[in-house]
Formats: sequence, C-alpha cells, structure tokens
Amino acid sequence: MAIVERAYAKVNLWLEVLGRRDDGYHELETVMHEIDLHDVVTLEPTDSGVELEVSDPSVGTGEDNLAVKAVRALEAHTGRDLPCRITLEKNIPAGGGLGGGSSDAAAVLRALDAAHDLRLDAPTLEAVAATFGSDTSFFVRGGTSLCRGRGEIIEPLPAPETLWFVLVLPGQVIPTARIFKGLRLTGPSRQVYHHLQSLEVGDVPQLRGLLHNRLQDVARAEFGLVDELLEELAPWSPLLSGSGSTLFILCDDRGHAEQVCADIGFVERRGVGTRIASSARRGPETA
Ligand code: C5P
Repeated sequence: MAIVERAYAKVNLWLEVLGRRDDGYHELETVMHEIDLHDVVTLEPTDSGVELEVSDPSVGTGEDNLAVKAVRALEAHTGRDLPCRITLEKNIPAGGGLGGGSSDAAAVLRALDAAHDLRLDAPTLEAVAATFGSDTSFFVRGGTSLCRGRGEIIEPLPAPETLWFVLVLPGQVIPTARIFKGLRLTGPSRQVYHHLQSLEVGDVPQLRGLLHNRLQDVARAEFGLVDELLEELAPWSPLLSGSGSTLFILCDDRGHAEQVCADIGFVERRGVGTRIASSARRGPETA
C-alpha cells in the first residue's frame, strides 16, 4: 500500500545566530513557519533496496538525497531494512531557503513509520531527523516552532492559524554552507521576545516590523540579484527566508497579498517569480 504525504515548505520569520560552535555549526534561534507550498511524497514498501524517483531532473536521486538519508537513518535507528520506492513530486524550489529537501526527508520518516507500523512518537522521529540535517526535525511536526541548537531543538509556538505571504522566487540556488561561511558575527544578538509576543497575539503589522534574518546581509553581499530585489522591494518590507534565495513579504490578509503580488509584478521582467502562500494546514488530507 502506498503512503502519500505532503511535504510543506517553511519560511523563517526570525533567524538569529547566537555564535559559532566547536563542531563547526552555528547556534541558532529561529522561528520556522510551515506554508502551503508543498512537494508530494509517495512511498511504497518493496522487497529490497531503496528506489527514488524525482520529478525535477536537477535533483539527485542517490544516497546524497535527504530522502534516502532519511531511510538510512531510520534503518539505523530500528536495526532493520526498510526497503521502499519513493516518488518526489517537487514544487518547492531547491536551494531556495524554503526547506524543501528537509521537508521531503521528514515526510519519508512519517511515511515509513506508517508503512511499517513502527509507531514512533514525534520526539523520536525528530531525533532521527537530526542525525542527517539541521532543519529536518522541525518538519516532523511542522506548524510554527522556535528552533534552537543547530535547529534541531524544537519548541512549538502559539501562532495565528493563517498568515499570508507573497513569495519572491529568484530561481537562484544558494548553498547554505556558503552563507554561514561568509557570516561575521559582530555586535549583540537580537532578542526574540517581542517577535514571539506579536506572533502569539497575531498582530501582523507589528510582526512585519519584527521580522529578522541574520543571514540576509551575507546573502546580499554575495548574490547581486538578492541585493537588488531587497532594495527594490524595500517599501513592502521583504525578508530573506533561511539562507535564501527566496524572499517573502508578510501580508495582512489574502486581499493584501493579491495587491502586493500585483504591485511587485515588475520583478518578473528579471525572470523572478512571485506567488501567494498561506500557512500550511496539516489535516486528514495530508496523510
Ligand atoms: O545541517 P545542514 O546540512 O542543513 O546544514 C548545511 C550547512 O549549513 C552546514 O554544513 C553548515 O555549514 C551550515 N550550518 C551551520 N549551522 C547550523 C546549520 C547549518 O553552520 N545551525
């Protein structure tokens, strides 16, 4: 029996880097929020091996793919082979700071858990996810969470049921490692407290003024198109998601998002895409 899972994208409403760690990673404090843009992951148990098929030919299908790493990690955790055929229908652009590969991998963990009736709880699947990625654990449960450590320490947050966004998609692949490498930490880190408060009460205009991404200036310095778009879109308060290249604009409601989309249509002359997204709603149709 095939299991079908939606793998939702995320945006980082807040991303502060608190310091560099001895293991080479960075200590983060980030608010991740799942949005309705999603890949579709189909998983079927088979007799042997792991087969992966991806709709986007630019995405590799070998052991390096996070979806295959997810199978290997769960095999290591359970001590048994979990042979399967996985199909990824990609809609989330790769290398865009939207967590597509990580979300696909978490969806594979959920699907394997269901297909093999493993009945592992969320914290266990999050721990397995942390063995092969930093933002993979968040996608086990999704929603809105404050993520700390490398990104794998998850604290679910109260947040409005539906937020509206305009995504600005430059179609540029930005390797996360390159952005962290270019980061120079100077000055004090920003405190997330007021951001969390406005998120909890659902004060969107206030939240718009309290969005923050420490990685944005590095991406600006290294990627000219990101810099130009941030400049041109400044009146709409855009923010880089993760390490980019996607920017997002937080909107008051669907009507506002439609208006913003129309107003910033000029970016399309550069081959930059725009689309409206709202908060993901995991429901029965997800499974
Ligand atoms: O763990 P993940 O593969 O998602 O991270 C990609 C790269 O981003 C890492 O190799 C590392 O260079 C950088 N990174 C970091 N600190 C984090 C997360 C990622 O330096 N907390």
